[in-house]
Amino acid sequence: MERPYYTLEAARQYEREQMTAIPQQERPLFHLTPAVGWMNDPNGFCCDNGTWHLFYQYYPYDRVWGPMHWGHAASTDLLHWQHLPAALAPDTDADCKGCFSGSALPLENGRMMMMYTGVATDKTGTESQTQCIAVGSGNEFCKDAANPVIGAADLPEGFSTRDFRDPKIWQQDGRFYCVAVGRHATRQGSVLLYESKDAAHWNCLGVPAASDGKWGEMWECPDLFLLEDRPVLLLSTIDMQPEVIGEFRQGRNTLAMLGKPAVSPLNFTLQQAQTLDQGLEFYAPQTTLAPDGRRILIGWMENWDTVDSEERTDAWFSRMSLPRELTLKDGRLCQQPVRELEQLHRNTVQYTGLELDGERTLPGVEGQRLDLTVTLQLPTETACRGFRLQFAADKLHHTELCYTPHTGELVLDRSHSGSKRAGAHRCSLITGPRNDLLELRLILDKGSVEVFVNGGERVMSAVLPAFEQANGITFAAEGPLTLDVTAHQLA
Ligand code: FRU
Repeated sequence: MERPYYTLEAARQYEREQMTAIPQQERPLFHLTPAVGWMNDPNGFCCDNGTWHLFYQYYPYDRVWGPMHWGHAASTDLLHWQHLPAALAPDTDADCKGCFSGSALPLENGRMMMMYTGVATDKTGTESQTQCIAVGSGNEFCKDAANPVIGAADLPEGFSTRDFRDPKIWQQDGRFYCVAVGRHATRQGSVLLYESKDAAHWNCLGVPAASDGKWGEMWECPDLFLLEDRPVLLLSTIDMQPEVIGEFRQGRNTLAMLGKPAVSPLNFTLQQAQTLDQGLEFYAPQTTLAPDGRRILIGWMENWDTVDSEERTDAWFSRMSLPRELTLKDGRLCQQPVRELEQLHRNTVQYTGLELDGERTLPGVEGQRLDLTVTLQLPTETACRGFRLQFAADKLHHTELCYTPHTGELVLDRSHSGSKRAGAHRCSLITGPRNDLLELRLILDKGSVEVFVNGGERVMSAVLPAFEQANGITFAAEGPLTLDVTAHQLA
């Protein structure tokens, strides 16, 4: 092969030159942004010997998607991330068109194995996607000379390497397993399950789930794990039909498929499906198991359907979501901000039994880096016709979260956030009080909001333009409403 156009040395050199010029205060406080340039999906999320590693889809040289590298960051608390040198570049025959999404597995001997999709073109110029591995430690990862380890010959009938990607690897009972996605000629988006004794030779065990015309033409970024007694399969969908009634919207969704109770994720049989995030920006999430047993999820806080609604004014583009803890509650997958966030709490203010009718501000409740919980008392016979919370507000801008008790609709609207781009700025979901209480927890980190409803039963994430003075927060009720408010500044 000729000398590749993209090398790891070049990417690292570019990072060294560019990164120091980016002012730290320009970045969010606790949401990971790329070292420089473009970032999409989280990759290789894992905890190794007390250190969290997060790799990501990365094109350092511009704020747009380009030939994919893997960026690398590490953290000891999931909140403060240190950028490490880029980990992979598209520099071999098997991945010369891109090192696409994948996962990482800490190995017993202190090393780490990455499994990712290598994109290459064959002799006819057709692009193909196959699965590759790299093993290493620290900042040096060596791609296997035998790559790809899963190729065209390992695909069942009806699949092709045109769309075959995003392996998520794990170890179980002394064997390696991975799930990857493929596009089947008739069953459309599908998950393929593989098994291996040595991570070099893989055997397809079957197709545990497929779209069958219901969940989109192609899937991306699968993850399969056991949560309590349920196998859970996560997916991101392309070109999904809108659901007439229900929580799925058309296009790009993040899907959680809950399996029937089982003792192993390998025995996945779909029982019910839900969406993970009903906001404007969230896609391609990946999970890992924490040493204390928590299942932690992190997603890309963008979505290919809305990615152009944000202006690219900084030397970096896009951010990851806040890592979230997953639990099951009444048969639903719930997400809560990782409890590590409490370490950032400062200047807590609390209001209990506040009577609201009309609009007001609350002393101490302001700012753009905030963990804010608002609990509305909504008995069945409530006289309140609407609640509105405006935040990231100054004279010219605001974003709002509005709840209408009689319809149960919760709307997140950033039409007046200052975005100059056309496109979707409003998203909504249907929810309701539990035991007469509706809990709304908002995490603000200058330029983003994540809304967790009723202990994370439902979630909405969105990015916002960040204006220096837009620190205002106002509460408004149409008709009398009693509420509790707890606000922690985050620093
Ligand atoms: C999802 C995705 C993956 C692919 C990667 C390429 O956002 O399209 O399927 O591996 O991004 O950057």
